[in-house]
Amino acid sequence: MASLGVNIDHIANVRQARRTVEPDPVTYALLAELGGADGITVHLREDRRHIQDRDVELLRATVRSRLNLEMAATAEMEAIARRIRPDMVTLVPEKRQEVTTEGGLDVAGQQPALTALVGRLQAEGVAVSLFVDADACQLEACAATGARWVELHTGTYAEAAWADQPRELARLTEGSFIARSIGLRVNAGHGLTYQNVEAVAAIEGMEELNIGHTIVARALAVGLEQAVREMKALVQNPRRDPLFGSPRP
Ligand code: PXP
Repeated sequence: MASLGVNIDHIANVRQARRTVEPDPVTYALLAELGGADGITVHLREDRRHIQDRDVELLRATVRSRLNLEMAATAEMEAIARRIRPDMVTLVPEKRQEVTTEGGLDVAGQQPALTALVGRLQAEGVAVSLFVDADACQLEACAATGARWVELHTGTYAEAAWADQPRELARLTEGSFIARSIGLRVNAGHGLTYQNVEAVAAIEGMEELNIGHTIVARALAVGLEQAVREMKALVQNPRRDPLFGSPRP
């Protein structure tokens, strides 16, 4: 059964729209945990457009589940991660111009530098996950860095036209199989919604899904605690054949 990591970057996005003190991501992390979040994820971006350094420090002190810090593989972020020591660091590609993370990390293209960084973080007791496309070559490069985890990029599946979803889902299923066969543990995320999450949650070996946008959107209607509760029910008890619309019993 997969667990649920709740990404609360969008709470900070609303705060930063006014550069004020509310809504406070730390408060909402607690509400997400009360709703059943198994982990809290934040992305500390180089441009600090949403989550701020102080948020990460306070979350480290207050999160009772697990804190997953998404970050780029830079010297600045490494220093922060080694000081704060989140439960997990997920290394992601980052471009200043992008609205959100656009694709998986090119691990194969920067393997020596990533191997060194993964080694330094793991030596501090921080688990490392690499956010990659479900591609055999990238997954093999991930294993070669010494990282124990990957997060499969589900954005392509999430954005695919209905007719193409089975193909993208098959790619993720195969990615999970390949990753596990070379000793990696598997998370996934990006673009998942209440409508498309079940098929991914049902993939064999899937350990945790990291989900943000759709949960925060739903929270506007029902509150964050309830929005997390609803998502967790789907993640924990996905329909067997969700892509083809079999009704819930
Ligand atoms: N996983 C990673 C690596 C991400 O960069 C993001 C977005 O910050 C997410 C998961 C969550 O994506 P979404 O907000 O689309 O659910």
